[in-house]
Amino acid sequence: MLQIFKHHLEGLKEKGLYRSLRVIQGEQGPWVEIEGKQVLNLSSNNYLGMASHPRLKEVSAYAIHRYGCGSGASRLICGTLELHETLEKRLAKFLKSEAALVFNSGYAANVGIISSVIGKRDVVFSDEFNHASIVDGCRLSRAEVVIFPHNDMNALEEKISSFYRQDPDRRRLMVVDGVFSVDGDLAPLPELVRLANTYDALLMVDEAHGTGTVGPGGRGALAHFGVEGKVHIIMGTLGKALGGFGAFAAGSRELIDYLINTSRSLIFSTALPPSVISSALAALDVLEETPSLVERVQENAGYMRERLRRLGYDVLGSHTPILPVMIGEAALSMEFSELLLKEEVLAVALRPPTVPEGTARIRVTVMATHTREDLAFSVGVFEKVGRRLGIIKG
Ligand SMILES: Cc1ncc(COP(=O)(O)O)c(C=O)c1O
Repeated sequence: MLQIFKHHLEGLKEKGLYRSLRVIQGEQGPWVEIEGKQVLNLSSNNYLGMASHPRLKEVSAYAIHRYGCGSGASRLICGTLELHETLEKRLAKFLKSEAALVFNSGYAANVGIISSVIGKRDVVFSDEFNHASIVDGCRLSRAEVVIFPHNDMNALEEKISSFYRQDPDRRRLMVVDGVFSVDGDLAPLPELVRLANTYDALLMVDEAHGTGTVGPGGRGALAHFGVEGKVHIIMGTLGKALGGFGAFAAGSRELIDYLINTSRSLIFSTALPPSVISSALAALDVLEETPSLVERVQENAGYMRERLRRLGYDVLGSHTPILPVMIGEAALSMEFSELLLKEEVLAVALRPPTVPEGTARIRVTVMATHTREDLAFSVGVFEKVGRRLGIIKG
C-alpha cells in the first residue's frame, strides 16, 4: 500500500509540483536565517513585523506566568478565559461590529463559519480565487457551490439573480477574500454589498490579508471601501499582520451566538492559549498607537510594485503588500525562486494547485520593517535572475 504514496510523490516531482518544508532558524523578521545564512524575507505575511515585536513578546511571556500555558478545554466547556472575552470585545470595536468570536485559525474559522451558516438546501457563490479554506468550508457545508470568475460582478449578478428568481426563499451566501491572498487585489465590496441587498443574500468577507494592510488605521478592505457595518459576516486572522495566531468572526450579536451554538470547528476544539490571546490584544494596541506601520507597509509595497513593473514584470492588479510576479510555468517559477535564494532573497514560488495552471508566480510580500535598502537590494536580484532566465529581455 505504501507504494501509492511513492508513486504519487514521483509524479509530483516529474511535474515540478513536489513540495517540501523549509526550516527558518531564529525569529521571523525582515531577514531570516536559513541553513546558517541570512536571507531577505519576501515571503512572510508578517506584514507589520509584529511577530517579533518586543511588546507582543513581553505580554505573551507575562500571560504564561499569569495564566499558564493552555486554555484547558474548548470554548463551551471551560476554555473561555477572561482574555478571550476581552479580545472579542476589542475586535468588535476595532471592526465596528456588534460582536466578535475568536477561532483557532483562519482555516478553522472559514470552515466552521461557512458550514454553519449554510447547509444542504442552500447555495453559495464563491470567487474562483478564494482561499482554499473558503473552498473547503463551501464543500463541507454541502450547499450548492456556484463559482464565479474572479471579481466579475456581472457574471455574479447573472447567476445570483437567476437563483433568486427561481426560489427567493433559498438561503444565499456570497463569499470573497477582501484582499486576495495570491493576486493581492481587492474584491469590489461596494458592488457586492449592492448585490447582497438586491438579491437578499448574506455577504461574507475574509479579511485575512486586509487587516493591518489596507484601509484607514489598517482596519481592512471594508474600511478601505467605507462599507463597515454593511457586510453580514467578517472573518479575519490574527496570524498575519497581527503577528500571532488565530482568527475571528465578527458581525451581529445573533450571528455570533449562532456560531457559538453551531460552528463545529469552534465547539470541538481546545480554545487558544492565553499567551496567544494576549499577543493579539497587544497587536491591536500597537496597530492603533502606530498608524505609521500601515503607512510604511503601503509605501514599501508601492515602491516595490513600481520597481518590479519598471523591470518588465507583470504584477497583475495588486494594490496591497502582496505582489504576484508572474512567471507562467511551474518548473520555471521553482528555478526562479531557487536562484533568488542563492542570491539571498527568499521569495517562494506558488504553483498549481494553489494557483491555476500556467499562472505560476513568485509571491512577493513586503513588510513595514523592510528598509529601502533591503527592497532596492531585492530589485537588483530580481533583475539579475530575470535576465539569467530570459524573462527580462534587453
Ligand atoms: C485568505 C485567507 N483566508 C484564510 C487563511 C487561513 O488562515 P490561517 O493561516 O490563520 O489558518 C489564509 C491563510 O493562508 C488566507 O490567506
